[in-house]
Amino acid sequence: MSLAGKRVLLIVSGGIAAYKALELVRLLRRDGCGVTAVLTQAAEQFVTPLSVQALTEHRVYTNLFSLTDESEMGHIQLSRAADLVVVAPATANILAKMAAGIADDLPTTLLLATDKRVLVAPAMNVRMWEHAATVANMATLMARGVAVVGPDEGAMACNEYGFGRLAEPPSIFAAIRGSLAPGPLAGKHALVTSGPTHEPIDPVRYIANRSSGRQGHAIAAALAALGARVTLVSGPVSVADPAGVEVRHVETAEQMLAACRLALPADVGVFAAAVADWRVAHAADLKLKKTPAGSPPELTLTQNPDILATIAAAGPLRPTLVVGFAAETHDLRMHAEDKRRRKNCDWIVANDVGAGTGIMGGTENEVVLFTEAGAEPWPRAGKDEVARRLAGRIAEALGGGGPTNTGVEIAARTP
Ligand SMILES: Cc1cc2nc3c(=O)[nH]c(=O)nc-3n(C[C@H](O)[C@H](O)[C@H](O)COP(=O)(O)O)c2cc1C
Repeated sequence: MSLAGKRVLLIVSGGIAAYKALELVRLLRRDGCGVTAVLTQAAEQFVTPLSVQALTEHRVYTNLFSLTDESEMGHIQLSRAADLVVVAPATANILAKMAAGIADDLPTTLLLATDKRVLVAPAMNVRMWEHAATVANMATLMARGVAVVGPDEGAMACNEYGFGRLAEPPSIFAAIRGSLAPGPLAGKHALVTSGPTHEPIDPVRYIANRSSGRQGHAIAAALAALGARVTLVSGPVSVADPAGVEVRHVETAEQMLAACRLALPADVGVFAAAVADWRVAHAADLKLKKTPAGSPPELTLTQNPDILATIAAAGPLRPTLVVGFAAETHDLRMHAEDKRRRKNCDWIVANDVGAGTGIMGGTENEVVLFTEAGAEPWPRAGKDEVARRLAGRIAEALGGGGPTNTGVEIAARTP
């Protein structure tokens, strides 16, 4: 979806990452999106109104009382004229003011006066992000339907490491597109896992399974088609990345869990990946060689993290709707119902992947959807069709409107 004809009100607050707002403006303008920018006083210390004005090709606003005609209530008009209000970067300070409803300058007055969807891209030092005040403020904002993109984990300008880095401009751009997309899942964030995991034995060998990633990738595409912003965490597969979806490529179960945690918060999590239950406890650094005696190496396995159960137990950060997959070769109903309860998921999509079904790695699927209401067998169909049907059910379950997460537990994001 192109953003041509759309208008974003971009509020830049005073963080070290403010310069990245310029790159975001460039991406938006390149896509035909109009941008009106408002800078906090602190933001002016980091970027000049002139450079923002040059890129937006529009007047930049900084002062509540300098709007040309306050008799027309310029701040109200500004806050209503845009299709979406974006705060990037969002400092701890502006998030706190938003949560408290403080309106003591132009940006915060606009944020209080707007009737439009609001997307924030937090950026701050890891300790500020993990501070109980910020945690509570984020929970308040998200409960009110404010959409969030990032922050990312990484090295910071202050020489510390952790969560708090501004999401990269292309990710913020994707989140803006998601928030403006038409469709029942507009403004929702979906996390989808897909494909197998590869668990190394040595640098050239690994333990894997027959998952092709076709079903998970089709679900990611179907959710995106309904307007969701989708993060797809994919194991090694040969199917192409779906268009319009942010894909994080991983190999092992541990990497997949870390990528999933990083992608939270999400409104829905669909865990379709065939994650290896075990990995080799100590993968060899060098290729294992045959011994003259002909004795094969002994591999000691250890349990991998349970991604579905971990994300379903992520406290306030748990996606509103958690959908697990169960690939079984026998006693499908018993295993699926048990898995739904044990792993605290809302739905289980179960399929029989026994020999001869052609499902694992094939193009068709025959699933039973287990919900609180019971079991619902779906007819055998192409994986794209199953994905569309599941995406439709997810849209029904989440309803329209803004994001539905009820809170955020920042500590839970630390991998
Ligand atoms: C060099 C420098 C870098 C800063 N970077 C950040 C930051 O990345 N995130 C943040 O929340 N605050 C940061 N601050 C603090 C904010 O600038 C300060 O809280 C300010 O009051 C924010 O005002 P605003 O929210 O109205 O823009 C920084 C301050 C300085 C001096």
